[in-house]
Amino acid sequence: MEKIIVIGASGHAKVIIETIELVGKYQIYGLIDSYKEKGGQLFDYNILGTEEDIRNIAAKGITKGIIAIGDNWNRYLMYMRIKEIVPDFDFITVVHPSVVISAKTSIGDGTVILASVTINADAEIGDFCILNTGVNFGHDSTIKNFSSLAPGVTIGGNVLIEECTAISLGTNVIQNITIGKHTIIGAGSLVVNDIDDFKLVYGVPAKVIREVTKGERYLSGGLRDSNKDQN
Ligand SMILES: CC(C)(COP(=O)(O)OP(=O)(O)OC[C@H]1O[C@@H](n2cnc3c(N)ncnc32)[C@H](O)[C@@H]1OP(=O)(O)O)[C@@H](O)C(=O)NCCC(=O)NCCS
Repeated sequence: MEKIIVIGASGHAKVIIETIELVGKYQIYGLIDSYKEKGGQLFDYNILGTEEDIRNIAAKGITKGIIAIGDNWNRYLMYMRIKEIVPDFDFITVVHPSVVISAKTSIGDGTVILASVTINADAEIGDFCILNTGVNFGHDSTIKNFSSLAPGVTIGGNVLIEECTAISLGTNVIQNITIGKHTIIGAGSLVVNDIDDFKLVYGVPAKVIREVTKGERYLSGGLRDSNKDQN
């Protein structure tokens, strides 16, 4: 089996690791994490160092991996850094075997599609996206690079989700909606109108609460709490 590394060693990484093991196509050589101690472990895998160590790992012929970081902006920054360090590093796509995907669908590099997701006809899934457990993704809908759908999100048909947008736990988006880039839709929302770029939105029906800045945090507690682990 071809060897890969998993970049990120927190809770989201656990789910991705189990999915990779289940698929059985790649062997996990080890993990990379910017904050965890080198030599530590997650499951049976060693933490080999930070992203800077990817250079040495690539020199051993291991030039493929997956970024297991849940926060969209941090995942993007990590991608940019890896491309600086090892320009020809490749990113795999991880798709859980339980997923139901129309044959008329495209899925980008570095994207993760977790258990029990359904993707309907003519959907387009960009690069480095996350479709978390139990997502329903409607026909003719598009999600662009570095965006994410949290567990239990339902996206109707003909929806467009622009880059680096996060749709949180259990949200429903009705058909024919466009959601802008770098927007955060709060958990449990019902989106019935188009949403612009850089907005924090939540509620039933969802309302714009305020503007957000690029990279604002939305996982592990409050939006502005940048000290907690965002993986
Ligand atoms: C969008 C989100 C980050 C908002 O966080 P926040 O702005 O820090 O909000 P706060 O916790 O400070 O709450 C501020 C107010 O908004 C309300 N609020 C926050 N999120 C809400 C939501 N999703 N729906 C309705 N009201 C919400 C709070 O009840 C609070 O109201 P109050 O002032 O009357 O007490 C949060 O709702 C969310 O969805 N997080 C992501 C969850 C998720 O999907 N995790 C992924 C796991 S894989």
